[in-house]
Amino acid sequence: MIGIKPKWLLNSRMAISPMVDVTDHPFRQLVSLYSKSKDQSSSKSSFITWTEFVSVDGLLANPNRFKSLLDYSEIQRPIVCQLFGSDPDKFNRATKIVADLGFDGVDINMGCPVRKVVERQSSGSALIVDKPTAVSIINATKQAVAGTDMSVSVKTRIGFDEIEIEQWIPTLLQTNPDLLTLHLRTKKELSNCPAHWENEVMGRVTELLKQHRDEHQQQKSNNNNNNKTTTTRLFGNGDIESRLQIDEMFRRYSLLDGIMVGRGIYGKPWFFSDENQHDDGIDLKCRLVALVEHALLIEQHKEKYDLQHNLSSLNLHLKSYTQPLCHLGEIIIR
Ligand SMILES: Cc1cc2nc3c(=O)[nH]c(=O)nc-3n(C[C@H](O)[C@H](O)[C@H](O)COP(=O)(O)O)c2cc1C
Repeated sequence: MIGIKPKWLLNSRMAISPMVDVTDHPFRQLVSLYSKSKDQSSSKSSFITWTEFVSVDGLLANPNRFKSLLDYSEIQRPIVCQLFGSDPDKFNRATKIVADLGFDGVDINMGCPVRKVVERQSSGSALIVDKPTAVSIINATKQAVAGTDMSVSVKTRIGFDEIEIEQWIPTLLQTNPDLLTLHLRTKKELSNCPAHWENEVMGRVTELLKQHRDEHQQQKSNNNNNNKTTTTRLFGNGDIESRLQIDEMFRRYSLLDGIMVGRGIYGKPWFFSDENQHDDGIDLKCRLVALVEHALLIEQHKEKYDLQHNLSSLNLHLKSYTQPLCHLGEIIIR
């Protein structure tokens, strides 16, 4: 069934990628504090935050442990919780827990390439080659949120071994998720090549989306249906590092509804802010202040995560705040 989209989804043009050990509570909080306008409705830069992925098996087996990991604050809204797994019934039950936690949406991971997830758990990108299970999972998840305002979305890749958008995209669109985010690489490509923003791939995806939207419109007029239902929104993902690149993709692909940014926001919590769009203008003092603020947030929320998580998060972010300053180090050494 095609539903009416929540307003936040219609307004959002950008999103933070779900990233394990990166998009935890402290990082989402920092990005939100730097980038969220008090009045999101008047902001060009309204964006969606995403949690790290959570296993449906883990969540069902030990909900209390995950409740603390899935903690978020109001400023992080709209916030989507990402789940992975392979059993439709477990998705249905886990989604009800996510709904009870007050999330704005639930996202189904159909793109993770990690062997443990794909081979041992038949999850993540394994669902690209098991389309019947993928469809059942989406339907079971939608059933769990029926009658609520929550969105159901899918984040996936453009194929498993080969690019297979001709089969995979229509299969997904037929289930009408509220949002489809496409990481423009296959599972086999991991992150080892440039994302396929070229017209042959992204352009073709938008054509398939247009066909789907036209069919929906036709059905509505055949049924004299005037309600405000809309079809799946499309976000693209992969290798986006600046707001200029985002503008360029919107210019190139007018049917693209939004862009999800992953590694491009490392060390740039101001990425989504309208005021500080251009990272080049951020000076040394601001970078160091952000680093300290981030470290303080990690300290403040350290009980939620294990030591390993906190250390690897701190390590990754430390590097990313100081990386643009490396040339400064070289100058000092010289
Ligand atoms: C450290 C790391 C962790 C990630 N964890 C997840 C995850 O939990 N769920 C997911 O769907 N994708 C995950 N991804 C993939 C990203 O969300 C994104 O699709 C990918 O990095 C490509 O986007 P980018 O080029 O903007 O980084 C992860 C990527 C990285 C680098």
